[in-house]
Amino acid sequence: MPDPERILVIIPAAGSGSRFGGDVPKQFLPLGGKPLVQRVVERFLFDAVVTRVIVPVADMLLSAVKTSPGERVQFVAGGATRLQSVTRGLEAAGDDVDLVAVHDAVRPFFSIDTFHATLDAARRHGAAFPGIPLPDTVHQIADDAIASTPDRSVLVAAQTPQCFRVAILRDIVARAAREDADATDEAGLAAKYGHRVQLVHGDSMNFKITRPEDLVMAERIYAEWGGEGDA
Ligand code: CTP
Ligand code: MG
Repeated sequence: MPDPERILVIIPAAGSGSRFGGDVPKQFLPLGGKPLVQRVVERFLFDAVVTRVIVPVADMLLSAVKTSPGERVQFVAGGATRLQSVTRGLEAAGDDVDLVAVHDAVRPFFSIDTFHATLDAARRHGAAFPGIPLPDTVHQIADDAIASTPDRSVLVAAQTPQCFRVAILRDIVARAAREDADATDEAGLAAKYGHRVQLVHGDSMNFKITRPEDLVMAERIYAEWGGEGDA
């Protein structure tokens, strides 16, 4: 029998939340009484397919969140950009990994079914991400006016968890470090470096908490529907 597949989830949580504002970074604000990042970590730990969870956090928080050896979740120091935080998480993982999922600490309503579908697509194609159609028309702007209007039917908004065979994620983060390149998501970077990144249908519920009004909406949704797989 082949060895069981080892699935690592990296949850970058070292951002400062500049668009959200406030004194406490948004990933530590409560949703239904628990910090967002804790909700996200617990939801992944609840899923038996997940071997390990690594959470990059700001350096100064590291001592406050130390975990014991042998636990399925581990905190590491993040970096100055999201990509650097993901890179630190991957470095901490060692060799015992087959597939890696990268999920924002501030998307509490991801679906386990979509996660599994994305893992499956990454298993088959090497890399995959959940995306959703754009509700609004998008314009490219120059000099405060419309320069062009891309065809919306070929555009999607990228969500997480984005999933990769570990060799592919290692390849793209190493290449980005060499070229001093940055990216707002790893899926786009993988595509830029020539990998096929398979689209999986995402869900509109899996929105990212970016601004204060997103958390207000999340609280309402949580109060109405609760959190599936909640501890
Ligand atoms: N992130 C990270 N390390 C960074 C920057 C971002 O781990 N140096 C994480 C955030 O904590 C978040 C995820 O990447 O979980 C998605 O990023 P985003 O929503 O952009 O969060 P922030 O970068 O914190 O917010 P902003 O861009 O508004 O400053
Ligand atoms: Mg950011």
